[in-house]
Amino acid sequence: MLPLTLRFSLLALSCMLPLAALAETPLSTERVTELETLLYQDCGSCHGMTLRGGLGPALPESRMNAYSRDGLAALILDGVKGTAMPGWDGLLTEQEARWIADHLQNDNPLDE
Ligand code: HEC
Repeated sequence: MLPLTLRFSLLALSCMLPLAALAETPLSTERVTELETLLYQDCGSCHGMTLRGGLGPALPESRMNAYSRDGLAALILDGVKGTAMPGWDGLLTEQEARWIADHLQNDNPLDE
């Protein structure tokens, strides 16, 4: 039998580990600026510089909120097979795709 104090500290430790694994370091301001540029230039080359649509559909806030944030991030990383929508998983991390998804859902210039 382990001493009580040791058992308590092990218990505390095992509760903290999953939290530590979930915590992400926030994106740097430089990277956020790059992601914004990517969204309006690269994504914008198909979806329009103001996301109003072009070769790809418009990406208004109302439509973007039909997805969960993680679902939207997955769509961005995987692309849409059989369409011109490419997958971005070589260029963006999951955290970065979630940042873009969050931006499209909550900080969208096309707020219809
Ligand atoms: C080469 C053109 C192209 C580029 C570049 C592109 N997309 Fe797309 N995207 C499309 C097309 C075409 C569709 C529609 C796919 C379909 O028919 O379902 C689409 C669909 C989407 C959708 C789903 C729209 C909806 O109404 O459900 C989202 C979200 C999206 N793109 C986000 C992005 C983001 C974010 C980027 C940049 C990281 C990006 N796209 C870059 C062509 C593009």
